[in-house]
Amino acid sequence: MIKNIKITLLVFIFALVSCKQKETKVVEETASLTYDQMTESKEASKEAFNDAKYGMFIHWGLYSIPGGIWKGKKMEELRGPKVAEWIQFGAQIPREEYAELAPQFNPTSFDADAIAKLAKDAGMKYLVITSKHHDGFAMYDSKVSEYDIVDASPYPKDIVQELYDACQKYDIDFGLYYSHNIDWMDGNDCGLSEYLASGGEEHARVKRKAGINTWDPSPNTFTEYLENKAYPQVEEILTKFPNMTTLWYDFAHYVTPEESAKFYKLAYDLQPKMLVNSRVGNGLGDFDIPGDNKIPKDHLSITKPWQTVGTTNNSWGYKSYDNDWKSPKELLFWLTEIVSKGGNYMLNIGPKASGEVPQESIVNLLTVGKWLRVNGEAIYNTRKWNVTHEGPTKLNMDGTGDREKHGFVAAFTPQDFWFTQKGNSIYAIAFQYPENQVIIKSLSSKNTTKIEDVELLGTTSKISWKQTNEGLEVDLKGEQVDKSGYALKIILK
Ligand code: GLC
Repeated sequence: MIKNIKITLLVFIFALVSCKQKETKVVEETASLTYDQMTESKEASKEAFNDAKYGMFIHWGLYSIPGGIWKGKKMEELRGPKVAEWIQFGAQIPREEYAELAPQFNPTSFDADAIAKLAKDAGMKYLVITSKHHDGFAMYDSKVSEYDIVDASPYPKDIVQELYDACQKYDIDFGLYYSHNIDWMDGNDCGLSEYLASGGEEHARVKRKAGINTWDPSPNTFTEYLENKAYPQVEEILTKFPNMTTLWYDFAHYVTPEESAKFYKLAYDLQPKMLVNSRVGNGLGDFDIPGDNKIPKDHLSITKPWQTVGTTNNSWGYKSYDNDWKSPKELLFWLTEIVSKGGNYMLNIGPKASGEVPQESIVNLLTVGKWLRVNGEAIYNTRKWNVTHEGPTKLNMDGTGDREKHGFVAAFTPQDFWFTQKGNSIYAIAFQYPENQVIIKSLSSKNTTKIEDVELLGTTSKISWKQTNEGLEVDLKGEQVDKSGYALKIILK
């Protein structure tokens, strides 16, 4: 009996020791992983990202109270970017004065369930919200800093937690934005001096000190900010919100390669499957961001998965006087253009200080969602085909300010088609119906293998078609599934 106990004890001790050794080994292995090994280990998540195609971005914080106007001055009369979440920078608001917005922030109309449901009904597969933007104010209950929604405002709930829970309910993937470089409350000079001392390049942004709080910088150093706020908060959100699909860093103009590597690794250690965006800085990141409201001119040169982030008007944060809402037609075009080039589209909403989502964005998003319910097969889980578009309409999307200046002028023709592919099928998406028939030149018998069948998504009736040397001719007379546009499924032999 005693002998048996002894043996069991020995086996147990042995098991414990080998377990400990294994544990140490895992830690050592993770510690010695190169960046390439870490990012390459995320292949499955990258495929999932390329499948998802469409998600919701939410910019929400104290800046929704002024809504783009400070002491009677609009963003356009202030310095810096014209997007409303930059108001503290634009009006050079001292830190203490800006912090006085916190006790006024009481979004009693915030309804996490309704927002997650909106994302679902809009056809979006994931959601990313600002856990902390450039103003330094956290929208979740942080234990690292008191400058957060639960501690500093009268609103008692953790907004990020509420949305996280609602997203689980509606099966929407979750991700967080975290401004790691700029923090106007605690970030001192955003690390500019360190960056220059470490040999950082003196590009245009560096020269004009873009984004830096020069009017009332915090008394601590940037390194202290990193050690005492940014790293611990990133660790905190990654622990508090498990199974995130993306961590979205921003504006890494002054972070050093070592700091970017640390932000990347921190994410990997806590959530190894989660993707980190390229704004972590210094060439790192599992997916690329070609720019705000920007479709890459040369998408073929992008080797990583990529995402275009877009606004529903011309601001990320709520801007009370910006009524230049992108129509469903424009949003649908962006989505299609991006997906035809192999990208992913994350479209923003900026809730008001009350918590309400501007009605115009709700309506426009839902209209696109309705189209996607019928035609989503041509969008989700697809990949780019060897032709992205044929037809005369060429639109260039070149940034938030550019879009605001030029508006959206598109006269789509029945000759315009955008393509995607999945398995044995090619999809042709169009925004303008023909009188009678269309000819899709890229699908001529000269260019493509033989076609088995052609379907118009959303109908069960047979449509007549023929493939000739000129193209694929499809008779669409009298067919109108959804006035926003249609998609053909071309099944190859
Ligand atoms: C920019 C802005 C920021 C916004 C972001 C969205 O980097 O600084 O306000 O959050 O773009 O992509």
